[in-house]
Amino acid sequence: MNNAVDYTLQGEIAVLKAQNPPVNALGYDVRIGLIAGIERAESDGARAVLIYGDGQTYFAGADIREFGQPMREPALPEVCYRIEASPLLVVSSLHGTALGGGFEVALSTHYRVAVPSAKVGMPEVQLGILPGAGGTQRMPRLTGTQAALDLITTGRHVGAAEAHKLGLIDKIADGTPLENGLAFAQELLEQGAPRRVTSELPASEALDFDAIYETTLKKGRGQVSPAVAVRAVQASVELPFSEGMKRENELFMELMATDQRQGLIHAFFSERAVSKLPELKGVAPRDVTAMGVIGGGTMGAGIATSALLAGLDVTLIEMNANAAEAARGRIEGNLGGALKRGKISADKYEAMTTKALVLSTDYAALGDVDLVVEAVFEEMSVKKEVFAKLDAACKPGAVLATNTSYLDVNEIAASTSRPGDVIGMHFFSPAHVMKLLEVVVADKTAPEVVATAFALGKKMGKVSVRAGVCDGFIGNRILRHYRTVADHMILDGASPYQIDKALTDFGFAMGPYAVADLAGLDIGWAMRKRLASTRDPRERVTKYIDKICEAGHFGQKTGMGYYDYSGGKRGGVPNADVMELITAERAELGITAQDFNDADIVRRYMAAMVNEAARVVGEGIARRPLDVDMTLVFGYGFPRYHGGPLKWADLQGLPDLLADIRSYSESDPYFWQPAPLLEQLVAEGRTFDDLNK
Ligand code: 3HC
Ligand code: NAI
Repeated sequence: MNNAVDYTLQGEIAVLKAQNPPVNALGYDVRIGLIAGIERAESDGARAVLIYGDGQTYFAGADIREFGQPMREPALPEVCYRIEASPLLVVSSLHGTALGGGFEVALSTHYRVAVPSAKVGMPEVQLGILPGAGGTQRMPRLTGTQAALDLITTGRHVGAAEAHKLGLIDKIADGTPLENGLAFAQELLEQGAPRRVTSELPASEALDFDAIYETTLKKGRGQVSPAVAVRAVQASVELPFSEGMKRENELFMELMATDQRQGLIHAFFSERAVSKLPELKGVAPRDVTAMGVIGGGTMGAGIATSALLAGLDVTLIEMNANAAEAARGRIEGNLGGALKRGKISADKYEAMTTKALVLSTDYAALGDVDLVVEAVFEEMSVKKEVFAKLDAACKPGAVLATNTSYLDVNEIAASTSRPGDVIGMHFFSPAHVMKLLEVVVADKTAPEVVATAFALGKKMGKVSVRAGVCDGFIGNRILRHYRTVADHMILDGASPYQIDKALTDFGFAMGPYAVADLAGLDIGWAMRKRLASTRDPRERVTKYIDKICEAGHFGQKTGMGYYDYSGGKRGGVPNADVMELITAERAELGITAQDFNDADIVRRYMAAMVNEAARVVGEGIARRPLDVDMTLVFGYGFPRYHGGPLKWADLQGLPDLLADIRSYSESDPYFWQPAPLLEQLVAEGRTFDDLNK
C-alpha cells in the first residue's frame, strides 16, 4: 500500500480511498495503490471492494502531467484489467467528476453508485487522444454504439441522471461517497448479486462506421482525435474484447505521438496558468457586487449582459434617453437569447431586466458602484471627458476600467486624480459570449485593482490575460501585423478567398476577410484614414478595399464587402468587383502576380503572427508566451489544437521559422524585421515554452 490509496477493512468490505489531491488523478502511486489494495482485499478474506475518492472528486482522469514521458508500469489498462478480474465484488462510488481514465476505472468495477451531482465523461478527445484504458471497448457494451460514439467523440460530461439512463451507473443515492458505496456494496452482497464484468457483455450494434468517421472528421475542422476515436469504437463492435483493446492501444499511441496532442495539452494547462500571476499572491481583490457601464452600444450592452448573468447589479449610463432605451433593447435581446436557450429561468430574466439593471443618463447614479467599465466611442477626448466625470461621481476605492481597443491607458489614467484605480478591461465582441478578457495594467495601476479585474473576469466566466500598455495590447497588436501580411500577399498575387480558405483549412473558424466583413469594413477604413498621416513611407498599404467602402459596402451589415451576401449571410460568395480592383491596383504598382499555394499562405501568415508575438513577449507586453497563446485561442479563433501561435512555432521548429522570416525580409526588409527574442531563442537553442516554466 502507499499514501495515495488508503486501505481499510470495514466488515466484509475492503475500502480503497484514493487520496491524491486536488483531483485524484491516476498517477503512478495511485495505480500501484489500487492494485495493491485489490490484492490485499483478496488475501484479507473480504467479499467486496469499494473504490472511492477522498476530497472533491472520484478520479478525474489519468495524470496528464505524465503524458509524453516514459510510462511507468503498471499502465492504466492493466490496473483496469486487474480490478475487473478480481473474484471479489468491486463497486465504485462516484462524486465530483469521474472523467477519462477515472471513468474507465469505474467501468472496470462491477457496479457503480453516484451522488446526484456527479458528472461522468470521456473528455480525452479534447486533449488530442482517446480513452486508452478500455473506455472505447467497455462503454459501448453498456450504452450501445450510438450513445458511446456521442460521448467519446464529443467528450461531453453527463450528469448522474443521464448516465443512469444510459446504463453507465447503476444507482443514484444521496450521501457521502463512503456511505453510498458501503450501503450499495452491502445491498449487492445481501442480494447475492453476481460480479458483472463489462468486458464480457456482448458487443454493441454495428453502424456505418466509415460514414461516421468522415462526418466526425469534417466536424473536427482539422482536429483528428474524435474521428480516430470512431475507429476505436468500431473495433469494440467488430473484434473480440482483447483484440479491441489492442486496437484501442495502437490508436491511443498514434494520437499520443501527434502535435495536436501537445497543442491541446498545452492549452489545457495554459488556460489554468494564465490567470495565476505571481505578483498577485496574497493580494486581496476588492469586493464587486455593483457595476457601472458607460455606453450601451455593441460592447457596453454585451458587458452589461455578461455582468448580469454573473449575478451583478448593473447601472448603465448613456448619452440620452433614446440611446438608453436602445441599450436596454440590446441587453434584453441578449438575455432573451439566454432565456430561450434555457441558460436562465423566466424569473431570473425578469429580475435581471428589472431590479438588477438601471439605465440612466446621469453620472450621479454611479455613486455606489464598486467598478465601472467604460465602453464609449474610441476617441481619446471622449474617454478623458468620461473619466473626469467618473472621477467626480464614483466613491473612493471604485475601480475605473476602460474597454478601449487601442488607446493609451496611461493617458486615460492620468486624466483622473486616482490613476492607481484605473485599468483596462478589454472584452471581445460579443462580450457576453467571447471568453477572452485582456486585463491591461497601466504604470500606476494598484495590485489590488489588478486582482479585482481578474476576480471579476473569473466571476464572469472569462479567461483573463494580463497585458501591458501599447497600441492594441496583446491581441489587436498581433492581429494588425498578421492582417497586414495577408494584404501584402493579395498585392503579390493571392486572392482574399484563397487566403480565407487556406486559413480555415489550417483550423481557424473563419478567414481574415470573412471576419472583416462580419466586423464591418468601416472600422478598418476609419483606422487607415487615422493612420495615413503617420505612416512610414516604406509601409505597403492596399487601397482597393477603400474603394469598396467608398461605394457604401461595409460587409455583412450592408450585404456586400469582400463577399456578396445577396444570397444570405451564411452563403457569401466572392464579390467580383474585389478581384477586378485588386488586379487594377497590382497593374498600377507594376506588380506581376505570383502563385501562392496554401502552404505558402499559412507559412507567411503564421510567421508574421509569431514574429510580432515574440516582440510582444520580448517587450513584456505579455509576460509569458502562454499569455499570447491563450489570447489568440480565446479571442481570435486560433485553433486550440495547435496550442496557440507560440506553441505552434515551437512545434514547427524556431530555426526554420526564423530562416523563413529572413528570406521574406529580402524583398520587404521594413515589414520583416526578425524579433530580437526569436533570434535569441534560436541562438540559445531554446523554445518559447521554456519561457513558460
Ligand atoms: N491530471 C493532472 N492534473 C490535473 C488533471 C489531470 N487529469 N485534472 C486536473 N488537474 C489539475 C489542474 O491542472 C489544476 O492544477 P493547478 O491547481 O496546478 O492549476 C488542478 O488539478 C485543479 O483543476 P481545475 O482548476 O481544472 O479544477 P476544477 O475544479 O475547475 O475542474 C476538473 C476539475 C473538471 C476535473 C478539471 O480539472 C478537468 O476537466 N480535468 C481534466 C479531466 C480529463 O481530461 N481527464 C481525462 C484525462 S486523459 C485520460 O484519462 C487518459 C486515459 O484514457 C488513459
Ligand atoms: P458603439 O458605437 O457601438 O457604442 C458606443 C456607445 O457609447 C454608444 O451607444 C454611445 O451612445 C455611447 N456613448 C458615447 N459617448 C458617451 C458618453 N459620453 N456617455 C455615455 N455614453 C456614451 O461602440 P462599441 O463598438 O461598443 O465600442 C465601444 C468601445 O469598446 C470602444 O472603445 C471600442 O474600441 C471598444 N471595443 C470594441 C469592440 C468591438 O468589436 N466593437 C471590441 C472591443 C473593444
